Amino acid sequence: MKLLSLSELELHMNREYFIPKPYSKTLDNGSVTWSSPSNIALVKYWGKKEHQIPENPSISFTLDYCKTTTTLSFSKQEDTSEFSFEVFLDGIEKDDFKPKIETFFIRIEAYLPFLKGYHFKIETSNSFPHSSGIASSASGMSALALCLMSIEKQLSGDISEAYFNQKASFLARLGSGSACRSIEGDLIVWGTHQDINDSSDLYGIKYPFDVHENFKNYQDTILLVDKGEKQVSSTVGHNLMHEHPFAERRFEQAHENMSKLISIFKTGDLDAFIKIVESEALTLHAMMMTSMPYFILMKPNTLEIINKIWSYRNETNSKICFTLDAGANVHILYPENEMENVMEFIKNELVAYCQNEHYISDQIGFGANQIQ
Ligand code: DP6
Repeated sequence: MKLLSLSELELHMNREYFIPKPYSKTLDNGSVTWSSPSNIALVKYWGKKEHQIPENPSISFTLDYCKTTTTLSFSKQEDTSEFSFEVFLDGIEKDDFKPKIETFFIRIEAYLPFLKGYHFKIETSNSFPHSSGIASSASGMSALALCLMSIEKQLSGDISEAYFNQKASFLARLGSGSACRSIEGDLIVWGTHQDINDSSDLYGIKYPFDVHENFKNYQDTILLVDKGEKQVSSTVGHNLMHEHPFAERRFEQAHENMSKLISIFKTGDLDAFIKIVESEALTLHAMMMTSMPYFILMKPNTLEIINKIWSYRNETNSKICFTLDAGANVHILYPENEMENVMEFIKNELVAYCQNEHYISDQIGFGANQIQ
């Protein structure tokens, strides 16, 4: 018999918490719709263990405008040995989305035992252009997890809002790690951190401490530098952290940066905020450049934009900064009171580096909404 370590045992017990009691209601068919946002990490999740357990804690701003809306229609069928579902994006059937959803269903079946008793139609659309290079896995997987939780709620009769959100985040994580940070807003922590009591590797929680006025309505303008498919998927990138020469130090650094952010959020120190956020973005890409095989997701225009931001900050008193996700696009973060000046700067000096001059204006948001 394999002996479990204490932390493995804890994880195991916590997972049990999400296995439902036998359902008290029956349901023949119906449909539910959720709209769920994307999010942008300040401390990055890069590297994971088995079962979608992150190697380090991360924290993100939930976005407001960038979101996925998903309608899940379901009809009862005899329990089958296979999952039965079809997927549509903007009304067009998307068989190439099916393997990822199939994997998701396999991972969550133990927690949602009704899955094989229904046929599902998944109809989804994004507020942002499909080919914008913006990852839709966070918003997409969280929207689907929320729809499934709405079905479970109907089957169970009573589920508290807290349990609903926690389990939706737990399920979303099994679809795509960062998706667990998209259920609520406006700042979400995922991954166990010693200074944050209720933090968990299994789901995201609302950031529990004081946040200074400076961060209210923080803006995120996303510059679309490259709208093409990424050459290396996040999943492959995460896996490359397993044999990575700098992995252990990087995971420690993420813990340290989380601790620093706690006092930064409290005091509103934007200069210190900028240092952490930009360093996290560049560290993420440094991990990509130093893995084996190595790869580069930034494009020349990504660097042009970063340099322009640094000059602008030197010349003005601006608190603008950048972050990156696993791609070439640049997220420009800034306080709401700088909106007019920064938009002027973006239009005059940065849009020229965007593909077809495209950018998306977004800001901090407060999480997913049930539409129907
Ligand atoms: C760089 O959540 O897309 O955006 O769990 O394999 O689906 P999977 O990975 P994913 O990774 C996101 C990585 C990141 C950083 C972050 O959002 O924290």
